Amino acid sequence: RDPKVIPEKLRAWYDRHARILPWRVPPHAGHAADPYRVWLSEIMLQQTTVAAVKSYFQRFTELWPSVDDLAAASDAQVMAEWAGLGYYARARNLLACARAVAAMGGFPDTRRDLAALPGIGPYTSAAIAAIAFDRSETVVDGNVERVVARLFAVQTPLPAAKAELIALAETLTPMRRPGDHAQAMMDLGATICTPRSPACGICPLLEDCAARAQGIAAELPRKALKKPK
Ligand code: ADE
Repeated sequence: RDPKVIPEKLRAWYDRHARILPWRVPPHAGHAADPYRVWLSEIMLQQTTVAAVKSYFQRFTELWPSVDDLAAASDAQVMAEWAGLGYYARARNLLACARAVAAMGGFPDTRRDLAALPGIGPYTSAAIAAIAFDRSETVVDGNVERVVARLFAVQTPLPAAKAELIALAETLTPMRRPGDHAQAMMDLGATICTPRSPACGICPLLEDCAARAQGIAAELPRKALKKPK
């Protein structure tokens, strides 16, 4: 089977069905996403739902339209605006990162240099590099893990399966439009390849899905039983 067909079908689906989100540049807009807005959204979306993040993202970008504006804000004002989003270490790292980026004259444009900034781990560095800088990096969050586990019918339970799922996800990442590919994987996981009752009937990858062929899509990814303490 041609490994390129999956990303090609996914991109065609994304061009028609991409979710419209305040931090997103629609496919074919003709300009790249602003790294500041990509970074801010990805930090806010860690452990928080898209629905909850939308209004915070809009408020932050009205108050502070650029990373220089955010870097100049007071700790107290940023903490006050963050109130309600939770995980307050994220807000402290947010400011530390904004100030480091402002001092550097802008966001670095490689995954490695991004990952050296406060609060930016493997997921966020890959997301910014792919979405804002068009780098062919592989972005793996919980949604992507589920999509990949099903496409390849990975039976290994999480969390042991993580490295295997990342390696399989890497085989799908295209050289062209890697940011759209990453967001298409997330959207597929959020809207069709959902944890329970996946909507396989309308999935663009229905014919390519090994779990579906085996009738076990809804059972994957498997999860290790938690050890009793
Ligand atoms: N969750 C985290 N990052 C996202 C993004 N860029 N688009 C949609 N959902 C996301």
